[in-house]
Amino acid sequence: MRDVNIGIVGLGNVGSGTMAILAETSDSIAQKLGFRLVVKALCARTIEGKQIPSALADALVTTDWREVVNHPEVEIVAELIGGQGVAKEIIEAALAAGKSVVTANKELMAAQGPALVDAAIVHGANIAMEASVAGGIPVHTVLREGISGDRIEAFYGILNGTSNYILTEIERDGTAFADVLAEAQRLGYAEADPTADVDGFDARSKLAILAALAFGEKITAADIFTEGIRRISPIDFQYAHRLGHTIRLLCGARLTGEGLILSVRPALIPESTILASVKGAYNAVWVRGKYGADTFYYGRGAGPHPTGVAVVSDLMRVAREIRSGSPTRVSPFAHDRLEANRPVSVLKQKRAYYLRFFVRDEPGIIAALASILAAKKIGLDAVLQLPNEDKAALPFVITVEPTSEQSVQEAVAEMAKLDFMVEPVLALPMETAL
Ligand code: HSE
Repeated sequence: MRDVNIGIVGLGNVGSGTMAILAETSDSIAQKLGFRLVVKALCARTIEGKQIPSALADALVTTDWREVVNHPEVEIVAELIGGQGVAKEIIEAALAAGKSVVTANKELMAAQGPALVDAAIVHGANIAMEASVAGGIPVHTVLREGISGDRIEAFYGILNGTSNYILTEIERDGTAFADVLAEAQRLGYAEADPTADVDGFDARSKLAILAALAFGEKITAADIFTEGIRRISPIDFQYAHRLGHTIRLLCGARLTGEGLILSVRPALIPESTILASVKGAYNAVWVRGKYGADTFYYGRGAGPHPTGVAVVSDLMRVAREIRSGSPTRVSPFAHDRLEANRPVSVLKQKRAYYLRFFVRDEPGIIAALASILAAKKIGLDAVLQLPNEDKAALPFVITVEPTSEQSVQEAVAEMAKLDFMVEPVLALPMETAL
């Protein structure tokens, strides 16, 4: 069968991993496909310093993405630059030219995936995005194919490696968030601008894509309650451990009687759950289906090689479909909102909550807090106070019985008015049923 020719735009982390795998495994790829994947064109904003493997030396190397997209022999364009600006132009231009696209771009696919897939269908092309979420875990394929026959009831993910690395370092060493972040930046594990990772936006894009595939629902960023990890301190892990829990940035999508509740937020999870064993920069996805029960997927969420594997696997799948004369496609994204799976506000969620306080010590604090909880009809579960000498910023924790997020947020707003409160209350859901 005739070879399939590809072009790669973006030679950063993911692009370099993709080039390395294509160069080193070209024979085994050809063995599996029955034809070769040939890299015809490579593009980066600057070429200087890029290591192009010698096996790809015949490829055109350019700084102009149009030369890749318009290359007469290129049949698949790999867009590996990320973001929603030029990346979108590249993908749209490739699709308009009838060329298929493989992308690692979670931000763009979360925001505009349905429209881009529709454009691909109109132009008789394909668009594949396995590398956009949890690079080393083939979770798109799982949701689109492997367990698509199940009725998914809940989905939990650890989808941001940087946050998981930071949280598990705080947990292990008792180091403050800011110090762990600074060290992670120094080592190159965290970006110079860490906002997307530590404030939950990267995980939100990933959850939007996966929840759309899992529930057949149209999901937008606004549907997802999002809170990052900046306020998690070593003391929170001490209290969480006392409660038999740990803390992770949990991406959750749960089908309830009211609708689909979506959130990215730090949560207490039992130490006995498999998710608690996900440490460092690893990612994991746990899906609970009505019929197939629980399945769990684990692996590296990022990095040149794990993400490169996802890109190369997508290139192989798309190439196979091109050579087999692929049939009419159906978008993996839903276009209508299903009544039963409609996203609803996290305020409807009922959970036990962990409330952590820093207060200026004085008599009557517990009584004042208990009276606010009682007024909101929130049942108090436990009061915990580890030994601490700092009377000017004394930490302690109250856990409350399952109640609505609405009530908890109202109580927290009332508590913020108390003059002994040194910083805003930290309220984390306790996922005790995991
Ligand atoms: N910045 C992401 C993370 C990796 O920390 O998981 C790419 O998605």
